[in-house]
This record gives sequence, C-alpha cells and structure tokens, in this order.
Amino acid sequence: MRVARLFRILSTVGRHGLDEFLVGPGSGLARFGFRVAFFWADRSGPRGERLRLALQDLGPIFVKFGQLLSIRPDLVPTDITEELSKLQDSVEPFSSEEVVETLRRSYGKPHTEVFKTFDLTPVASASVAQVHFATLPDDREVAVKIVRPGIGETITKDVSLLRVLAVLVERFLPEGERLRPREVVEEFEKTIHDELDLIREAASMSAVRRNFEGSKILYVPEPHWDWCTREAMVMERIHAIPVNDLDAIREAGIDIPTLGRNGVEVFFTQVFRDGFFHADMHPGNIFVAYDGRYCGIDYGIMGTLSDADKNYLALNFIAFFRRDYRAVAQAHLDAGWIPPDTRVDDFEGAIRAVCEPIFDKPLREIYFGRVLMRLFEVSRRYRMDVQPQLVLLYKTLLQVEGLGRHLDPDLDLRRTAQPILEKWMNEQVGPRALWRQISREAPTWAKTLPQIPRLIHKVLADDAPGRLEKAIRELERAQRSQSRILLAIAVILAAMALAAALRTFL
Ligand SMILES: Nc1ncnc2c1ncn2[C@@H]1O[C@H](COP(=O)(O)OP(=O)(O)O)[C@@H](O)[C@H]1O
Ligand SMILES: [Mg+2]
Repeated sequence: MRVARLFRILSTVGRHGLDEFLVGPGSGLARFGFRVAFFWADRSGPRGERLRLALQDLGPIFVKFGQLLSIRPDLVPTDITEELSKLQDSVEPFSSEEVVETLRRSYGKPHTEVFKTFDLTPVASASVAQVHFATLPDDREVAVKIVRPGIGETITKDVSLLRVLAVLVERFLPEGERLRPREVVEEFEKTIHDELDLIREAASMSAVRRNFEGSKILYVPEPHWDWCTREAMVMERIHAIPVNDLDAIREAGIDIPTLGRNGVEVFFTQVFRDGFFHADMHPGNIFVAYDGRYCGIDYGIMGTLSDADKNYLALNFIAFFRRDYRAVAQAHLDAGWIPPDTRVDDFEGAIRAVCEPIFDKPLREIYFGRVLMRLFEVSRRYRMDVQPQLVLLYKTLLQVEGLGRHLDPDLDLRRTAQPILEKWMNEQVGPRALWRQISREAPTWAKTLPQIPRLIHKVLADDAPGRLEKAIRELERAQRSQSRILLAIAVILAAMALAAALRTFL
C-alpha cells in the first residue's frame, strides 16, 4: 500500500519534471533515471508551477502542505511561494450515507432524533470537513460541521510519505538541511491534526466570542456544546453577506470604507489585546451582518502570542510604520529572533534594502504584510529562528490587508492600526499597567525576597562563569526594558512609603 503510494509520488515527480530539484551530491544518477523513465515529461513551465500541479495531483493533504509552504518565504524561494499560494483545495463532497453514519457514531443515535430537520446537501465542502444546515428540536437554526470520514488515516499515510520526502530533500537538495524539512513536516502534522478536532475548534470559537462580547464590530456565532464532538460541531447559523459580495453589502446600506477599517481593528485587537487571533482570515470565512458587524467563522487555525511576543511585535510594528530600521533590527535582536552575535548595523542595512523600495510606492500599493514576509527572506541569511506564531501572524496580516484594500483601496493601515498599538503600549508601560503588574507580582515578590540572600550565595558558591555572564546579560536586558525600570522605581517608592508609614506607627 505504502509502496504503491510512494510509487505514485515518484511517478508524479517524474511526470512534472521535478527531478530538476535534485541537485545535491550523489543525485546525478537519480536524475538520470528520472530523465530516462520520464523522457516525455513536460518541462516547459516554470519550476514553481510544475511543483504546484504535482501537489494538486497528489491530493488534498499535499495541497494543504503546499499551502503551508507558500507562507514560508523564510524557507522557500519567492518564485515557488508565489505559485504555491495559488493552491486551492477543490474536493468532492462526501456522501449522504457517510454524513448520516458520522452523526450516528457521534451521538450514539440516528441524526433524526437529534435534529428536527437536517439538510443532507452540504453548504460547502473542503478537504478536512463539510458543513450542513439543520434545525434543533426547539427550531433554532444551526450549522453542522462534520469531519470528512477516513481523513485521519489519509493524513497519517500521506504524512508518513511526506516524511520520506523530507529525508530525500535533506539528502539531495542543495542546502537541504537548512530547509529543516523534517521539522516542517512535524509542524504540518500538528496543525492538520488540530484541525481534525472540532471540540478544539468550538472551544476557540467560544473564546473569541467571549473576547468580543458586546462588540460593535465583530459577532461570533455560539457553539452549541451539547452537540459538539470531535467529529461533528453544531453552532448557531448566521444570516449574513459574504464579505466578497460588495453589491449586497452596499445594498444593505453598510458603509464599505468603515468596514475596511473595522477589519483591521478586529485583527489588531485580537493580536494585541487578546494575544489570540483567528489565523485563517480569507474571505470565505468572513461575513457581514445586516447591522454592519463582521461575522467570523471557522476557528480551525488560531495563533497565540505571549506577552513578550506582543511586546516585541508592537515595537516592530511601530518602528516599521516610522521606517526606523535600526529599531526593527534592535527589536529582533532583543527578542532573540536573530543570533546574538549578529551585527545590528549589518542587519539594519539588509532590512533597509528590502523595505525602502517598497515604502517608496504610493500608499495604496504598500502591503505591510508583504514587507514583513520579505523580512523573513532577509532573515534567512541571518539564520533567524523563525517563530511559527509570527509566520501565522504575518500571513494573516497579509489576508487582512487584502481584505481591507478590497473594501477600501485607499485604506491606510498605519493610520488605522497605530492608535490601537499606541493604546496598547500605553497600557503596557503607563501607570495603570504598572499598578496591575505590581499587584500581580506582589505575592511572588513577597515569596522571593526572603530567598534572595540564599540565591546569591548559591550563585556565588557554584558559579560557572557562563552563568554569571548570563545573569549579567539578563540584567542588561532588564535595564533596557522601560517597564522594569518603572517597576523598580515603583518598588522603591512603595518601600519608602512603607518605611515612612512604619515610622509613624512605631
Ligand atoms: N455558523 C454558520 N452559519 C452559516 N453558514 C456557515 C456557518 N458555518 C459555516 N458556514 C458555511 O460553510 C462554509 C464552510 O465553513 P468553514 O467553517 O469555513 O469550513 P472549512 O473549515 O471547511 O473552511 C462557510 O463558508 C459558510 O458558507
Ligand atoms: Mg473556511
């Protein structure tokens, strides 16, 4: 079975003349073999296009893998990522019998006992799941998302083949090791398995719904937990206009440029306020309600950011908007995204070379998402440790900008995003943030303070020189961080106030 699929992969590779990718040491013979066996292969198109067609031939999992590669300009050259971003999954819907069977397995009884009505014709079907409309016994209208039967096994099989390919790539491609193919495949496996679990998706939906409770710009449908399983998910059905249908939106009397700005606001709010963002904001997942609010669906792929990530990101964005490349470079260095021995001015120069030509264009042609993606290309040279959550974020930003410009060609991302960023920064370093931080950290301090002499003793006693050096670097970093200095000042002030109070009392 596996041999048969491997054979299929090899023949697809040959048929599309992909042997030209094999150029590493020892690949001459393999290439020669391919050339002889597939002498009739059409090698006329560009290599990216041939790779795209080959992936399409190999099926939905490979298509999804290609889509993942298309957002890794840190790994894959641009001519190929551009081709791969054209990959669309077009798959046949699965049969009514399979729908009925999946529902029965999920609920332990026939679907007719769970739903009052159930439309067996799917609204939409994709490689992992498809959606049907139904009503609950109390007449509430719902959308039911169902995982494609057997997709789990297909994924397992295809992923094991991808692993084999990864080993080949590592062995036979120039710089194959730098591409870290095995890691990329592992990461892919994780995201695609996450998408298979609809409980997880319903939980993400519910979290975003809570984050945007009462919001005037985003509405999130409610999952109906009683009927959510790993394979089937039931949620409130929304009645709204697909965001691509501009005529219908206009007809509903909704102001389109405002909608464009609101889209940017939703994204930056998810990123900076919540650190939890919808990472699949293509138009098929975005609707507009008749009251002008967005309706977001499909929470299968989410990005999360830590406070530290958010901090460096905000610095990065602000520096970018100001075209302050030194600050961009410094933020990357401080965040540990590039190796600590990198020369900042070198890196700064490289960033400038990428960004200046883009920023010179009229505003409506500048895509910040694209600029940031180009930055990953630069970082390829600087052995940047690419953070998966950043790749997701930049890709989503690109989608959001595309959407925003589609709604309003003159959308000024900077003007829309900057107030949100600055508000967030102020909350991070302003007096209120300080107070929050102090009250949050006070218990830890109270516990840690008495231990400090012991800790110092320990460090001094069994010090390896590296450790001390690390501590000093830590200290330097702390000094650079404004909020810590503020915190230190606040602690001193608080201590003085306490001392004064004690003196009065004693
Ligand atoms: N809650 C809902 N209300 C109305 N339509 C929905 C709802 N959820 C999904 N749909 C329809 O089903 C399509 C696919 O749903 P989605 O969750 O995006 O699945 P996929 O993960 O396959 O992209 C959507 O584009 C939309 O037309
Ligand atoms: Mg979708």
